[in-house]
Amino acid sequence: MKGIFITFEGIEGCGKSTQVELLKNQLEADGMDVILTREPGGTVISERIRDLLLDPTYKEMLPETEVLLYAASRSQHTGQKIIPAIESGKVVISDRYYDSTIAYQGAARQIDGSAIRFLCEFAAYHHEPDLTFLIDVAVETGLGRINPESADRLEQESLDFHRRVRTGFLELAEKHSRIVIIDGQKSISEINGLILDKVKEYLKERSK
Ligand SMILES: Nc1ncnc2c1ncn2[C@@H]1O[C@H](COP(=O)(O)OP(=O)(O)OP(=O)(O)O)[C@@H](O)[C@H]1O
Ligand SMILES: [Mg+2]
Repeated sequence: MKGIFITFEGIEGCGKSTQVELLKNQLEADGMDVILTREPGGTVISERIRDLLLDPTYKEMLPETEVLLYAASRSQHTGQKIIPAIESGKVVISDRYYDSTIAYQGAARQIDGSAIRFLCEFAAYHHEPDLTFLIDVAVETGLGRINPESADRLEQESLDFHRRVRTGFLELAEKHSRIVIIDGQKSISEINGLILDKVKEYLKERSK
């Protein structure tokens, strides 16, 4: 049977990494074969590109370079790791995927939307996530949860930039029924419960 591709999205500090870990452990306890991965990154080559993208010293990086590096990282990640895992029946959970490119490079950096969409689909081999959790929190809440001293190049952007990212994600959720908005202000365990319920509902629907 074909596997499942679940992605987590949202602004910095919304709780993605916390929730992917919890979900992975629960699905594994239910006997599923789960691969947890992240973007940018997930393979050796993609992690090298991640280092370039997030290094706070590369302040001169142009928006076009940034979007192309994300696409390069993603094509390797998707082709080498995600698609083979799904085809062998595994559950793949990715901490961020291409909706982040649409929100950060599209909505916040305002790069031409058609170029972004083309690059996202191209780098994903036209493979869409089955289910996406958008953990939505106020920018002040999300940024307030991360340590400003270790902030990466994207985390160091202005409040206004992060507000555009948040709005970009919410607009995307209106367009795609695969995206489930979760209130990230709730407690870690409440959020985990909502996510687990939704995943189980999805699995039940699919097995009909
Ligand atoms: N629902 C929550 N309520 C309060 N604190 C939370 C909640 N979820 C996560 N946190 C805490 O907020 C911090 C950031 O969470 P986490 O690393 O999961 O966010 P993230 O979305 O992965 O961030 P980033 O985009 O920077 O990777 C952690 O210290 C985590 O314990
Ligand atoms: Mg994280």
